[in-house]
Amino acid sequence: MPPGTEEIQNAVDVLRAGGLVAIPTETVYGLAADAENPRAVGRIFTTKGRPPSHPLIVHIAGAEQLADWADDVPETARLLAERFWPGPLTLVLRRGRRVPLETTGGLETVAIRVPDHPVALELLTAFGRAVAAPSANRFGSVSPTTAEHVRLELGDDVDFVLDGGPCGVGVESTIVDVTGPAPTVLRPGGVTREDLEAALGHALAVPASSPVRVPGQHPSHYAPRARVVLVEPQDLAAEAVRYADHKVGVLVPPALAGTAIEAHAVVPLPADLADYARGLFGYLRDLDHQGCDVILATLPEEQGLGLAIANRLRRAAGPRTGEA
Ligand code: TXA
Ligand code: MG
Repeated sequence: MPPGTEEIQNAVDVLRAGGLVAIPTETVYGLAADAENPRAVGRIFTTKGRPPSHPLIVHIAGAEQLADWADDVPETARLLAERFWPGPLTLVLRRGRRVPLETTGGLETVAIRVPDHPVALELLTAFGRAVAAPSANRFGSVSPTTAEHVRLELGDDVDFVLDGGPCGVGVESTIVDVTGPAPTVLRPGGVTREDLEAALGHALAVPASSPVRVPGQHPSHYAPRARVVLVEPQDLAAEAVRYADHKVGVLVPPALAGTAIEAHAVVPLPADLADYARGLFGYLRDLDHQGCDVILATLPEEQGLGLAIANRLRRAAGPRTGEA
């Protein structure tokens, strides 16, 4: 059952009092606070264990509110907002005065998006302001795609959980910086590079490895407890045998369906990339719960949603040491 009016009102009351509400979005669940309340925003950072220098995304109810939260909105931003909002696209713009520096991690830019989820939009409309919301997980771990994931990970640290069912997209929003001379993709996500290029009418630079300045850009992020090891598809079965003294979980790509793989847990991946993206973080969590200490995975082709999936798998497999 989707949350009723009473639950939305409860959530609004919590936000007005400076509390934290977990909200469903089409990408992943967010940990929301009043974007204009520095103390409430401060609680997001302590709850996540996230360094305060790492900026949050400001969620608004519609593109018509953009001018309230950002200054000097360029034509490109309007075009992208018009085409992709509500939806899994975040735009980095010049910070408007309403947004405190606590929310932007001290930056003069602000990340903004309109989530495509009826519950999130209902909440934003009822609240009448913006919420700052990172993914509702502890810093560095896998983003939650169900309300249950949030409850298991954050427990009583979150004041209220709005359950809007499982997230439809399953990977986070695509982040595009439109403050420079040309739009730049800072994080691949739910809106594909191909769709962005079609909307813009020109090719986009997607940095292979951007400078480490924001979470999600860190080598190890989106990581389950188990160690994620990336292997070539043709080596998958042999690698599972090589790790036989571990509890191995294997994400099996469709091309290898039917191949005999000996492992503690085997997840056959869907052929459709949208289904794969929707399930990805849940598969990683499930393998953790099944006690796996190693997860073997292969990279999908980096086209369409495959780009975001490959990005998350690489981050999950990244070195654990030196994480901020
Ligand atoms: O789909 C999503 O984007 C989800 C849902 C809840 O909206 N949110 C999310 O938030 O993934 P978070 O905090 O886990 O990731 C936000 C990313 C981080 O990499 C952060 O550094 C970047 O956005 N970001 C935020 N403000 C920025 C800015 N001003 N400049 C550059 N990057 C920024
Ligand atoms: Mg996150």
